[in-house]
Amino acid sequence: MPHRVRIEPSGHEFVVEGDDTLLEAALRAGLALGYGCNNGNCGQCRARLLEGEVRQIHHHDFVLGEADRLAGAILACSVAPVSDLVIEAGEADSAAQIPLQRVTTQLQEVRLLDDDLAALSLRPPRSQRLRFLAGQRATLSADGLPPLELSIASCPCEEMRLEFHVPRLPEAPLTAALLDGALRRFTPITIDGPRGDFVLDRDSDAALVFLAVGTGFAPVRSLVEHALALEKAPRIHLERLALPPHGAYLDNLCRSWADALDDFGYHAGAWPEGDLATWVDAFASAHLGDDRTTLFIAGPPAQAEALDAAFATRATRASRRVSSAGCPA
Ligand code: FES
Repeated sequence: MPHRVRIEPSGHEFVVEGDDTLLEAALRAGLALGYGCNNGNCGQCRARLLEGEVRQIHHHDFVLGEADRLAGAILACSVAPVSDLVIEAGEADSAAQIPLQRVTTQLQEVRLLDDDLAALSLRPPRSQRLRFLAGQRATLSADGLPPLELSIASCPCEEMRLEFHVPRLPEAPLTAALLDGALRRFTPITIDGPRGDFVLDRDSDAALVFLAVGTGFAPVRSLVEHALALEKAPRIHLERLALPPHGAYLDNLCRSWADALDDFGYHAGAWPEGDLATWVDAFASAHLGDDRTTLFIAGPPAQAEALDAAFATRATRASRRVSSAGCPA
């Protein structure tokens, strides 16, 4: 039977179903609860039970002292609710609160989206997941090749899979090794990160407008999925501006969001050659209305900076966040 959990002091709520731990269910709901090992060793997921009852479903080696127990201390990675709960727990509310980590993952899949672009899936060890916020980036290294920084394309709410969009880059031999199959399944790939503050404002209920240029779709995919998990934005619009040679890759995924969800708009077009200011005017009129809106712009540096400059000269009530790091041309 599902149980509802409220976190104090944030007031965030989530539902725990089946045999999920409190930590697993909170992460799936898009909440950034503090944790480290996810297997009962580090104590970083410690929370305090204020109301309700839990049962331990996973063994933990971390020792909670008698005084801790009397004060209601629990480890969120090892207990599940028996009733609805109120707990006191720390949540990251900014990128600065997420520590830099090094995680050695395994290559799970290289899914070619075209000859020179792949969706790379990595599997972290169960005992050491990467803690990050949607929209952040990380550095990948493998096989002694020079490291490569890319935006994380998956949602933090996905527990055991990290996705990156890998274009072929002549200056980055790791991309050719992945695209041409030189790195096989289960190859260890080390991730250092996360970095960047191109993230959602956890407590905002503003409308969200995403403008993804080329590989800027990677952080935007992560942000959209995180926003959908949080269920706070009253409306979401996603605009893709395709660049050659990859076009609006994973277009079907975007269409499936628009088909399945109310208040989710999607449009894909080509990068506007010529008068960018005219395009920005039309876009702002159509999508940056009178409601409170946050505009996220992601793409390769040339295009992201051009859009940022064009929006800066146009009066709109929307707040704007721009990122080009980890989005190669
Ligand atoms: S996350 Fe390490 S003990 Fe729970």
